[in-house]
Amino acid sequence: MKTFYITTPIYYPSGNPHIGHCYTTVACDSIARYKRMQGYDVMFLTGTDEHGQKIEQKAKEEGLQPKEYVDGIVANFKRLWEYMGIKYDRYIRTTDSYHIESVQKIFKRLYDKGYIYKGEYSGKYCTPDESFWTESQLVNGKCPECGREVIDAKEEAYFFKMSLFAERLEKLLTETDFLQPKTRASELVNNFIRPGLEDLCVSRTTFSWGVPVDFDPGHVVYVWIDALSNYITALGFENSAYDDFHKYWACDVHMVAKDIMRFHALIWPAVLMALELPLPKHLAVHGWIVFDGVKMSKSLGNVVDPFILGGRYGADALRYHILREMALGADYSFSNEGMLRRINADLANDLGNLTSRTVAMADKYFKGALISERKEEAIDDELVGMINALRGKVDEFIDETRLNNALEEIFKVISRANKYIDETEPWVLAKNPDNNARLASVIYNLLEVLRVASTLLYPFMPSVMPLIWEQIGLSLDDATYENAGKFGVLPENVQVKKGAVLFPRIDVDKELLELNNLLKDDVQSL
Ligand code: MSP
Repeated sequence: MKTFYITTPIYYPSGNPHIGHCYTTVACDSIARYKRMQGYDVMFLTGTDEHGQKIEQKAKEEGLQPKEYVDGIVANFKRLWEYMGIKYDRYIRTTDSYHIESVQKIFKRLYDKGYIYKGEYSGKYCTPDESFWTESQLVNGKCPECGREVIDAKEEAYFFKMSLFAERLEKLLTETDFLQPKTRASELVNNFIRPGLEDLCVSRTTFSWGVPVDFDPGHVVYVWIDALSNYITALGFENSAYDDFHKYWACDVHMVAKDIMRFHALIWPAVLMALELPLPKHLAVHGWIVFDGVKMSKSLGNVVDPFILGGRYGADALRYHILREMALGADYSFSNEGMLRRINADLANDLGNLTSRTVAMADKYFKGALISERKEEAIDDELVGMINALRGKVDEFIDETRLNNALEEIFKVISRANKYIDETEPWVLAKNPDNNARLASVIYNLLEVLRVASTLLYPFMPSVMPLIWEQIGLSLDDATYENAGKFGVLPENVQVKKGAVLFPRIDVDKELLELNNLLKDDVQSL
């Protein structure tokens, strides 16, 4: 069986998850579900990056031990993923003992091979905060955390010889299809590789909440080596917790937003090169969900709470909305109004109406079960052609991680089907029993559009699509990827079943007012 390995970043549990974290996780979940449907043996990994000074400080502020503090936030991440219908295969926490053991071995291996050496880290130091900062992190020359004076200071630290890998990294970025979209390669090459890659500081002595360097007490492994290694330790690399490394590595897709592209496009491949391991096949980089032009983030207080939105419109509508709006290579500016209008236009109107109109017609004109006679006409050809071609188009977009385009293609067929109803005028055909065969053909074609569209949409909206299957008389056994590639799977005398409204229409003005009040309360209570 072919395997497929996909990962999200491991998120910092320095605050509760927001809709920005949701985007990457929902996108990976949809791809993982699609690949499972295609018959792949899928490993979908997500998790949390729980070490570091910031977490240590946060815990202190709350009067908790760091582990106690992260346990609480991690529970919220997991609750949100369940709520959003995320079906991950494995969840890694960097505080898991098997991960810690592996990171120590990886660090030692790199040291033994001469890729890690001991040196001196110099920077700006804030004594009260016990923090090092780079010149560019300072705010008006002062500590960005507390605003106090900083001093020049040095600390003993280990460094990773990034510079050794410059040439191979440049080739990886410019001559292979590793980076998606490849247009981002030039900023990495011009800003980081060409000016000369600096060796990377990979240990610290000024905080203790991290993986200890076992051969040099006092040092803890600095964030990126610890965090990036999760993608292999979670499979059992250098530990005995799992035995999946040979099965799933090399990774098919690491998905990240642009804020951490550099770490995944330069540091991670360099570490793998040093470990002499195969490189990931793709790094898919998406933009940010922004709010009033600024990245959504807990510290800015502009987060949008997915629990509130999912609770009001359903997790599937929220999944659909964010996946449909985010285009490869661009940021998406979130607005409540945009979200409500999108849900109404695509889900309530296009998909919801197509389902309810089609099922209602089959119910009214044929008492629920179509007759077997058919009469095809030339006007059907375009629609049938679109149904036959749809899966191939969606496959391609999924492989390029262009999920918005995949959804757009599916909705083109749904819109075409709504137009087909207006063109064929079933209510006119129904007036004369001589037209019954033609009427059955029209309704059958519409049911087939719904079958193919809802099967291909299932990975994106896994809780609502089975409701469509029930209404259009599609058995679970027939809701398969294989069947989604062809026309004519529903039985001739298919039996439909009227059901509840799939996506209730939202009164946008009224809802906007309520939402603004709710979100205001939510932000205030953060
Ligand atoms: N812990 C590191 C990642 C280590 S991976 C080896 C980290 N964590 S994070 O919590 O800050 O998460 C960053 C990731 O969350 C982004 O790359 C993206 O996947 C997701 N997003 C967080 N905010 C986002 C938006 N506003 N918009 C889109 N994605 C966002 O960095």
